[in-house]
Amino acid sequence: MNHQQYKLDYEVYADASALKQEDATLLNHAREVTSQAYAPYSAFKVGAVAKLANGALVIGTNQENASFPVGICAERVLLSAAATLHPGVAIESIAISYDNTKGKSNHPISPCGICRQSLHEYELRVKNPIRLILAGLEGNVYVIPQAGSLLPLSFTSEDMK
Ligand code: THU
Repeated sequence: MNHQQYKLDYEVYADASALKQEDATLLNHAREVTSQAYAPYSAFKVGAVAKLANGALVIGTNQENASFPVGICAERVLLSAAATLHPGVAIESIAISYDNTKGKSNHPISPCGICRQSLHEYELRVKNPIRLILAGLEGNVYVIPQAGSLLPLSFTSEDMK
């Protein structure tokens, strides 16, 4: 028997002002677009902004539904839009923020399990890692160099060969 360990490397910043300018701008944009979320059921508004390799910016916000499972997270709204508007173009970074309108928005949230799977497939599809910049409306910031690192032992198309 062998023990295996999985290591996750990520950066922690005290707040947005400690980021390099380009990342701070992307994060502040993500904070702004939280207002475009449709989240009448959870009151938890998520905003995401991607910077693409061609310079384009693509946004996503969570879109809920009275039939709860129909709702879509901001990250997957963003990925669908990016794939449709800019097919084959790599996503360099995605900033993700949220406005918990009934509570605190002062710590980073990281993508849910389904979104991790979607983010990782996007990385494989365009052969480029996606950096994640994660923070609330205030407080510390995590920068994760590669979204797929959030999904150890991931299931991919390779497993179906
Ligand atoms: N949500 C996202 O959009 N992204 C995340 O990373 C976590 C959760 C949404 C789903 C739902 O509309 C609300 O936040 C509460 O779970």
